[in-house]
Amino acid sequence: MYTPEMKASIELVGRSRNRRLKETFPRLTPDEKQKLLKDFHPDHRPDTLRELKVGKSAGQRVPHELADVLELKSHLDPDTFVLGSPDYEVDVLVIGGGGAGASAALMAQESGASVLLVTKLRLGDANTMMAQGGIQAADKANDSPVIHYLDVMGGGGYFNKPDLVKALVFDAPFVIRWLEDLGCMFSKLPDGTMETIHGGGTSRKRMHFARDYTGAEIMRTLRDEVRNRGIEVIEFSPAIELLLDEEGKCAGAVLLNLETNEKSIVRSRSTVLATGGFGRLHVAGFPTTNHYGATADGLVMAYRAGANLIYLDATQFHPTGVAYPEQILGQLVTEKVRGLGAQLVNAEGEQFVYPLETRDAVSAAIIRECVERKKGFTTITGQPGVWLDSPMIDLIHGKGTVERELPAMYRQYKRFGIDMSQEPILIYPTLHYQNGGVEIDDEGRTAVPNLFVAGETSGGVHGKNRLMGNSLLDILVFGRRAGVAAAANAKDGRSAPSGKVGIEHVRAYHRELEKAGIITDRVSPILLPDYTRRR
Ligand code: FUM
Repeated sequence: MYTPEMKASIELVGRSRNRRLKETFPRLTPDEKQKLLKDFHPDHRPDTLRELKVGKSAGQRVPHELADVLELKSHLDPDTFVLGSPDYEVDVLVIGGGGAGASAALMAQESGASVLLVTKLRLGDANTMMAQGGIQAADKANDSPVIHYLDVMGGGGYFNKPDLVKALVFDAPFVIRWLEDLGCMFSKLPDGTMETIHGGGTSRKRMHFARDYTGAEIMRTLRDEVRNRGIEVIEFSPAIELLLDEEGKCAGAVLLNLETNEKSIVRSRSTVLATGGFGRLHVAGFPTTNHYGATADGLVMAYRAGANLIYLDATQFHPTGVAYPEQILGQLVTEKVRGLGAQLVNAEGEQFVYPLETRDAVSAAIIRECVERKKGFTTITGQPGVWLDSPMIDLIHGKGTVERELPAMYRQYKRFGIDMSQEPILIYPTLHYQNGGVEIDDEGRTAVPNLFVAGETSGGVHGKNRLMGNSLLDILVFGRRAGVAAAANAKDGRSAPSGKVGIEHVRAYHRELEKAGIITDRVSPILLPDYTRRR
């Protein structure tokens, strides 16, 4: 339900709609885009980043909230921790129960390895499940992986690691076929061809989707497959530290049972970290679209173990997070809404940005409209926002399109008495994605021998700004690749541990903390976000 003040502004949006339907807002020039980002993107705010004081990437600038968890102590005290005999011994340990972890586990098992998947919550409780808009793959006649490659590089500001982008775009058509073969139901035209639309920064319509619950459909498919193939899964048992041998090679992990608080030991020849991103750290004070478990656990463990970090100075703020109603503040309004033609307009009904610029630019333009130009709409509780003119969709594509193509979104708003096919919705940027992460090669290898990383925990493929639909793709491409490589690594005699296995690296890290003057009793990974009120 909208307030009378909102209704007055919505009236102005409605009045300009017919004119705007015929208009294409001019695209930003490269110089305009750079200036816009510098002036208004949260990454460039002076209070967003700080230098890391310890570890291999000391000196790198990362969000304060992330630096704070990277610079905490381990759950384990190296002076008192005794490594007992292992509770589990496997070839490949997969840590994380989202799309990347499930794909890695499936491929490692298919490659002949014994596999154990452990996860903090339940299998499938992950950002994958919440992804709405789609998955990119250049598999239509007017497209090619090379064009996809150029789009990814352009979107990432040309910071992307070329080998990773090559793997991403060339594996993409195969990954779509793989999912279909496993039973994933994508949206199709009556003749059986895949429906595809544009996302921000794409030069071809290559976004495949399952209405607006693409991630849920993909995760359902993967989870069924993991269960059907009998892969052992331990839920509610996050890893809290990696184990290393005397040469610094990864040799397993310590798990914490969240119900009993008991610890257990997994010894593995290869370990795949796929714990997702850092959305629940609420970088720069933003709400988030992310899953409750997105607390940077993998980054913390990999960093202590000696992995390199890359591009963590670039956080993705999705342009269209819910700004009203406040009960769902920060939740995702899929880019597909703009892909179907909805424009962004200010409180006076004026368009102010081409709706499918890359996400970083659209977010910065919305912030500029609200903060500098003061042309946003501010709710009764002080939340700024601009209108996403969703009724345009039915006008462009025919009555009933919103309800058919965006069923989850439509219902989400209906619960609050808002019919988004008739009335625009108020949105503001929300923290969506960790663009950077642990540095990997094109098979997910890290600087730590025997340690592989896949999915949002990794960095490099998306440069400094990921395009829509390349995250669902990334988790599958690199989950699969890491699974295969981890299985091969486990069979290689060189992956066997040398000397004693333990947590001596934690002792060294604690010493570094002390030397940097960081005295704390707090521990990380933090595992769950803390929303208790503090003074
Ligand atoms: O807008 C969206 O549906 C988000 C997709 C993505 O981040 O890839």
